[in-house]
Parts: sequence; structure tokens; C-alpha cells
Amino acid sequence: MSVVIIGYQQKINSLSSYPEIADDFLSLEISIFALHSQNVMFVEDAYGRGLRDLRISVTDRCNFRCRYCMPIEKFGSEYQFLPREELLSFEEILRLVRVAVPLGVSKIRLTGGEPLLRRGLEDLVAMLATVEGITDLAMTTNGTLLAHHAEALALAGLSRVTVSLDALNPELFARMNGVGAKVERVLAGIHAAQTFGLPVKINAVIQRGVNESEILPLAFWALENQIDLRYIEYMDVGESNGWAMQHVVPGAEILDLLEREFALKPRTAAYRGEVAVHWAHKGKKPELGLIQAVTQPFCGDCQRLRLSADGHFFTCLFASHGHDLRGLIRSGSDDDVLEKALSGIWQARRDRYSEERGKHSQKKAEMSYLGG
Ligand code: GTP
Ligand code: 5AD
Ligand code: SF4
Ligand code: SF4
Repeated sequence: MSVVIIGYQQKINSLSSYPEIADDFLSLEISIFALHSQNVMFVEDAYGRGLRDLRISVTDRCNFRCRYCMPIEKFGSEYQFLPREELLSFEEILRLVRVAVPLGVSKIRLTGGEPLLRRGLEDLVAMLATVEGITDLAMTTNGTLLAHHAEALALAGLSRVTVSLDALNPELFARMNGVGAKVERVLAGIHAAQTFGLPVKINAVIQRGVNESEILPLAFWALENQIDLRYIEYMDVGESNGWAMQHVVPGAEILDLLEREFALKPRTAAYRGEVAVHWAHKGKKPELGLIQAVTQPFCGDCQRLRLSADGHFFTCLFASHGHDLRGLIRSGSDDDVLEKALSGIWQARRDRYSEERGKHSQKKAEMSYLGG
């Protein structure tokens, strides 16, 4: 709210040099401001962090079995995924988004599992693209189905896509995704997204002894293709991946390797709470980023809320349980009740798992379920 007021004051100051237009303009601005402020009631959590970024998982299923996320031993043919009737409908998701926007949400990311496995996802994108106050509507995908959907997603109003790509080497890529999927398919998906005007970012999870050899090839490829690339430290999400600290390649080590090959300069955060620390190639366009959730936790600025496919809000990626709003929706609660429930959940939030790593022994929900 204070940002709106400061911006408004600056506008008044700058218009004072144009008295002939300032009065009319100001009265119009005051009415718009008054109208807007009636509907805005930003919430803060127990540590003063706002709610800005809503990540919506539309399915807990995936066509990959990356070991660090859905290892095949745990997510095999016996695994019970959410039954269809437990998934939020698109109308229910839209309703929760409309409730979340006045509390501060302006950025939405569709995730999964693999979001493109949810039938008709373009329809959800089109519905969300109409919500006033949403300025960024992104999606995280493994890219295998992107070539088929890129055009429809772009037309529906998606702002951009983030594609997970941990290796360019075809054998390593096939091994890492656990199902033998071909890297060419993902590259075709990325190409299709670019063709239809969707900005693309790449996320690569780096694990010690698995794909360190891909750090430089990915960087050269990203530079050649003018795509932003972020390296992610392998995290202890969920209870299935057998994470251990010795499997983490610290961001500092990745940066060291990159700086031996490229002339890089750091750039400041684009917005408060940005998860990646970025470096720009001197004189060239794409950026390299490091998401150092293990060695440089960023909980202090975390403004992210996650909505699972079955309608539970998680206030942290490492939380053991979520808060069920599907129950409230399906029992006929009106929007006021939903808004009070959501603001209460956020105001009570005290999560800072990554900064307290090792101090808790609670069981964590799986990332494929609660959203990446
Ligand atoms: P941009 O808006 O493009 O900057 O992306 P983003 O901030 O939404 O990040 P993105 O979804 O691409 O996240 C990249 C990865 O960072 C995720 O897949 C996670 O592995 C990790 N990550 C994202 N959010 C969090 C978070 O809240 N906590 C932790 N510990 N890791 C996160
Ligand atoms: N550590 C770090 N990143 C992970 N992701 C999934 N599991 C992990 C993990 N254990 C990333 C994926 C994808 C996004 C959804 O989350 O690579 O980019
Ligand atoms: Fe699927 Fe992404 Fe998890 Fe890999 S990291 S199993 S692509 S949800
Ligand atoms: Fe946010 Fe939890 Fe990640 Fe910290 S560990 S940045 S609180 S999601």
C-alpha cells in the first residue's frame, strides 16, 4: 500500500509543473486511487513478508521420474495419485485466485507434477489471464509436451515458460528423467515456445557425481540460443529422494567454473524475493542465475504460497501439511469466508525452513504434489 501512495505522491509532484492539466488529471487519479484502495488489503506474515507469488499445482502426475523428485521405487505403478474428483476444477482455481489477488498476489506460476498432463490447461490459462491484478502468468514444465501446446498457451495469454533441463547429453538426459525421454523433444518444445513468442527460462538441477559435467555445455548452449539459464542446488524436498549434503554442488562452485569461461557481472535483484542470484554476460544478453536454496537460503524475502492440486495451501516448500480450502469451497462458503481463511493462514506463517535446515524432523510433503 505504501508503494501505491509513494508512487501517487511522485505523480502529484511531477504534475505540479503543468497546472493547466494537473487539476483534471488529479481528480481522476484520486477517484481511481480511492476505488482501488477499497479493494486492496495486502497481508503480511508473522515476519512481515507479503504474499505476492502463488504457485498452483494442477496435477500431481508426471511423465518423468527424475530421481531427485519422483524416484521410480516410490512413484511406480502402485503409487496412488490423486483421483480426479479430488482435483480442484478450473473454476475452483479461478475462484481462489480471485480471492488471493486483493491480499497481494500478482504473480502466478502453474506447476505440477507436469502441468501439461492436465487436460485443457490452455482453458485455465485463458481464465487466469483475465484476472485483473495478475501481471505475470508463468508455467514450469519438463517441456516434453510443449511443442504441441505452445501456440495455444501463447494465444490463451501465458506470459512465459520455465523449462527444466538438467542435461544436453542424450544418454545422461534419458537416465536422469527415469523414463528414457529424449532431449530432442524438450529442445523442440523450447523452440516452439520461442516461435510463438513465449519467453523461455531454463532451470537445471545440478547434483554431485550426476550432471556436473553439464554445467558448461548448458551455459554455452544457453548463450548460443539467447536463453536465460538458472542452476539449482539439489534440495532436500520431500521424503523420497535420499538427499544428502554431499550430493549438493554449491552455487559458489558452479559460479567459479562459469567465471573461468565467461566474463560475468552480477546484477541486482529484479524484485524483492527473487530466488535466483543473477550474472549477466558482459555485453551479451542472456543471464545465468544461481538458486542456492541450500547454501544461501532466501527465506527472509519469501513471498511464495503454494496451492496443491487438491486445494491445500502450503506456506513453505518444505511444509509437512497444507491448509484445506477445497473443503470450504465445496461446503458452499462465500468469498469473504475464503478470504478470511487465506489471510489468517498467511498471517500465522512462520516458515523459514531453509534457514533452519537440520533443526526440524517433521515429515515433508512431496514437491510433485505441492508444486515446484
Ligand atoms: P522467476 O519468476 O522466473 O524468477 O522464477 P521463480 O522465482 O518463480 O522461480 P522458479 O519457479 O523458476 O523456481 C526455480 C526453482 O527454485 C524451483 O523449481 C525450486 O527448485 C526453487 N525454488 C523456488 N521457490 C522456492 C522456495 O520458495 N523455496 C525454496 N527453497 N526453493 C524454491
Ligand atoms: N532439488 C532442486 N530442485 C528440484 N526440482 C524438483 N526437485 C528438486 C530438488 N530436489 C526442480 C525441478 C524443476 C522444478 C519444478 O523443481 O528441476 O525445475
Ligand atoms: Fe516431473 Fe519435474 Fe519432478 Fe522431474 S522434477 S519428476 S519433470 S515434476
Ligand atoms: Fe520460502 Fe520455505 Fe523456501 Fe524458505 S524454505 S524460501 S520459507 S518456501
